[in-house]
Amino acid sequence: MKKITIAIDGHSSCGKSTMAKDLAREIGYIYIDSGAMYRCCTLFALHQGLINPDGSIQTEELERRMSDIHVSFRLNAETGHPDTYLNNTCVEREIRTMEVSSHVSPIAALPFVRAAMTSQQQEIGREGGIVMDGRDIGTAVFPNAEMKVFVTASDEIRAQRRYDELIAKGESADFQQVLENLRERDRIDSTRAVAPLRQAEDALVLDNSHMSIPEQKQWLIDRFKERIHA
Ligand code: CDP
Repeated sequence: MKKITIAIDGHSSCGKSTMAKDLAREIGYIYIDSGAMYRCCTLFALHQGLINPDGSIQTEELERRMSDIHVSFRLNAETGHPDTYLNNTCVEREIRTMEVSSHVSPIAALPFVRAAMTSQQQEIGREGGIVMDGRDIGTAVFPNAEMKVFVTASDEIRAQRRYDELIAKGESADFQQVLENLRERDRIDSTRAVAPLRQAEDALVLDNSHMSIPEQKQWLIDRFKERIHA
């Protein structure tokens, strides 16, 4: 059976990656977390001192250094999910910190960053058989994806999920700060000039505010089955 392309977009911290990972594992597709790629660019910029104390970005220098950023994904045998590598170092944990979260959206709004990541994503997904999640996958990266899903949930529920996730990983977190960060990222992501976050016209919409992880997984598997048998 022909393997299709599945694009899962939506707001920050709404559980897209959990759904996307679960679906990919279930159906034997490759899962790509496009947000991890923007987070790697942000971590690189932080490590290289290209983000000033006031939060402004040294854009010319970052643009010059873009070719030094190599992101890859390798399957972690223990978790069964791919880990993110930046220049051959596993950064799966480092890219999920609040520090990275607080700088990622301005970095992801830079046109040269988007151009570089979009072309890598298109290359990875060239053969289909992929589940990719992000903000612009169904609109800009794979506008012809056979299945598109747009996920959302209320702000407070999304912040609570992200807060719980950070605490479970042993990170320090403040609920109000997490809530403000996701609202601010949604604002920047939705209003940027290049490939803003928006629902593709042909996307299936899922508000998972009151769904459990098994319920949302089942919803997605059912939609996938409908799609491939259509
Ligand atoms: O995990 P969460 O949903 O909070 O965010 P993420 O998927 O890790 O994405 C982090 C940030 O990367 C987003 O807030 C966007 O600014 C950016 N991003 C993007 O611009 N385009 C994508 N396709 C994916 C992420």
